[in-house]
Amino acid sequence: MKSIIAALLFASLVLSSSFIQLSFASPAAAPSPAPPSYCDGKCGERCAKAGMKDRCLKYCGICCQECKCVPSGTYGNKSECPCYRDKKNSKHQPKCP
Ligand SMILES: *[C@@H]1O[C@H](CO)[C@@H](O)[C@H](O)[C@H]1NC(C)=O
Repeated sequence: MKSIIAALLFASLVLSSSFIQLSFASPAAAPSPAPPSYCDGKCGERCAKAGMKDRCLKYCGICCQECKCVPSGTYGNKSECPCYRDKKNSKHQPKCP
């Protein structure tokens, strides 16, 4: 009798752990980030005239990944991408170039 209970417990453990694995292994549910090539291209344009170009590219890249858009032109035009426009750093200044 004890061995039957043990077998049942073991079976339910195996089943539940494989169920947990299945429910976590669903990459389709994760939001797909913008393709890096998109951000590279857009941020290259955005930062073409930036003084601190490395810095501009770094923050533009972060914002682009999160917002999936970059305003056109080298400055301004931020209404094209409200997410990009509204991102603030810890000092409440606009984070995105
Ligand atoms: C805004 O974007 C347009 C292209 O859509 C561009 O011609 C213009 O120069 C940009 N404005 C600024 C201030 O860069």
